[in-house]
Amino acid sequence: MKDIDTTNMSADEWDERNFPRPEVQDFDRVVEKAISRRGFLTSVLAFGSAAAVMGTGLMTSTSAQAQAAAGARFPFKPIGIQTDFAVHVPEGYEWKVLARWGDPLFSDADGYDVTEGGPVEMSDRVFGENTDGMETFSFQGHELIAINHEYANRRTNLPAAQDGTPANAGDVLKLQNLQGVTVMEVREGADGWEVVKDSPFNRRIHHNTPMALVGPAAGHDLLKTEADPTGTAALGTLNNCGSGKTPWGTYLTCEENFNGYFGSTEASVDQKPIEMSPSFQRYGISAAGWGYDYHKWDARFDVSKNPHEPNRHGWVVEIDPTNPNSTPIKHTGLGRFKHENAEVVVANDGRVVVYMGDDERGEFMYKFVSNGVFTPGGATDGLLDDGTLYAARFSEDGTGEWVALTEETTGMPLAEILVFTRMAASKVGATTMDRPEWISVNPNAAEAYCCLTNNSRRGTMNDDGTPRTNAGGDVMAVNAPNPRETNRYGQIVRWRPENADHASDRFAWDLYVMVGNPAVHADGPYAGSKNMNAGNLFNSPDGMAFDSTGLVWIQTDGDDDNEGDFAGMGNNQMLAGDPVTGEIVRFMTGPNGSEVTGLTWSADRRTMFVGIQHPGGSWPDGAGLPRSSIITVKRSDGALVG
Ligand code: FEO
Ligand code: CA
Ligand code: CA
Repeated sequence: MKDIDTTNMSADEWDERNFPRPEVQDFDRVVEKAISRRGFLTSVLAFGSAAAVMGTGLMTSTSAQAQAAAGARFPFKPIGIQTDFAVHVPEGYEWKVLARWGDPLFSDADGYDVTEGGPVEMSDRVFGENTDGMETFSFQGHELIAINHEYANRRTNLPAAQDGTPANAGDVLKLQNLQGVTVMEVREGADGWEVVKDSPFNRRIHHNTPMALVGPAAGHDLLKTEADPTGTAALGTLNNCGSGKTPWGTYLTCEENFNGYFGSTEASVDQKPIEMSPSFQRYGISAAGWGYDYHKWDARFDVSKNPHEPNRHGWVVEIDPTNPNSTPIKHTGLGRFKHENAEVVVANDGRVVVYMGDDERGEFMYKFVSNGVFTPGGATDGLLDDGTLYAARFSEDGTGEWVALTEETTGMPLAEILVFTRMAASKVGATTMDRPEWISVNPNAAEAYCCLTNNSRRGTMNDDGTPRTNAGGDVMAVNAPNPRETNRYGQIVRWRPENADHASDRFAWDLYVMVGNPAVHADGPYAGSKNMNAGNLFNSPDGMAFDSTGLVWIQTDGDDDNEGDFAGMGNNQMLAGDPVTGEIVRFMTGPNGSEVTGLTWSADRRTMFVGIQHPGGSWPDGAGLPRSSIITVKRSDGALVG
């Protein structure tokens, strides 16, 4: 693998670099062969005949009224694009930095200086790098934030190492410490929000934190290693991307590109090249790794010595933010893949439903439905493990089904379904998607949305004329919810479960938006759907969250060079969408180089917490290194912000 400078590069982009896109895009061919723009629009914001045929009364009149009320307005004046190294919010709003990479969470880490790399001894006592998903929790009068640190920039954190390549075990340990999760107490004073340094709730969870593996696959041979012959006690959570929150007040952190940390000191395992092992191939484990070089200094990450260690990552992990001594729990019941986020909703009968996306080109969308039911204050054991995992299959007619991944449907034993979930979903013919990122459920209507960020390989051919596939060989031809070849812009799909019941295995779907650039492409697939216009141009929707009023907030992680196909889009940004009218308007822009990711609200809903990952320039300090940070956004008049 080519050594990569990850400055200003998202982890997803890193993945793209490791598995590069096709070299030549024949634009005319793309336009000719893709379905017409008119074709797109029939499935955008349609929800017509399919829903009627299903006779589901998908939106009740009550929820329709609630939605109409929510959709009546955006409570701000939309802003224009920006290309600078700054944050911009609408008139009447203000923003402030809350926490930056390297800020001390404890007094004993005062003086940690990111520009000098900072000492390894303090590196698990500071706010980690590259913020992503986050959630807020109120507990006994304390406000807590749990937040992910998705990856670490090797060059800036190891300035003494040649090209950021770890030169010793201490270098590896430092990178491991700066990733994972932060739990911290925050409070609002006269000067706005601040981190409560030394709060007993403050905690760093990183790549070596002891964790429990629970659920149906726990203890299986595939999860056993020399260091853990029980297959139930893992170390660390890796590449923490999106988040989730349970109804019982715990935090869910989702392991995405965990594969990149593994490598091999031998070219083969069991006489087979590493990359030829079917599960390693499907999950992207390679002998070279992604440049972290953990495997050269920490044998746990050397797959020639510990071939099962990768199986212990790629899970959804539950953390109790109110108990700093609690052991994080890896839930095998939710399946193993490159988890983006975990959107939890309680079904009408009390069963717990978790929607999840697998962010890689041509991978799938999933849903878990518990066997047991949630009762406030009741026992929650098993609610994220004992149940059924499903993969989504979309039909051209605007309907779809959740296909259960069982021994009968896949021919695989349950533990293998959970450890090698991608392979199980391939067996049932799940629909290949354009990189499922965040999923969010509308609080005012029984519907869920998923950002499909982009897929440069959709509908394209290999040099030998064979169609491109996902890593498991499933062809990525255009399909109904992913209708555009060489999909540079992305789309947002939404679905409404039959009988307004998230536990149902049938749904109706449409596309909320086909992102495009009508200012550059007057017509054709790249123009996008009608709710794209000169005033709201963006690309690559990624983060997403509904607020309590029913507006859907969309965050982007796309191309911000503002040229060519992306002209007029400017920096990555956060927009607000109306689920009823489809209207989308721009609320905020991030600094050039950054993606905007992670969004949650204070308990009083007067503050938004927003994440800025891998900014450029010297944001936010105006000098020195750029630093991933979370910011607070408030209205100047103190009114509610969602
Ligand atoms: Fe970490 Fe797919 O975003
Ligand atoms: Ca993301
Ligand atoms: Ca992304």
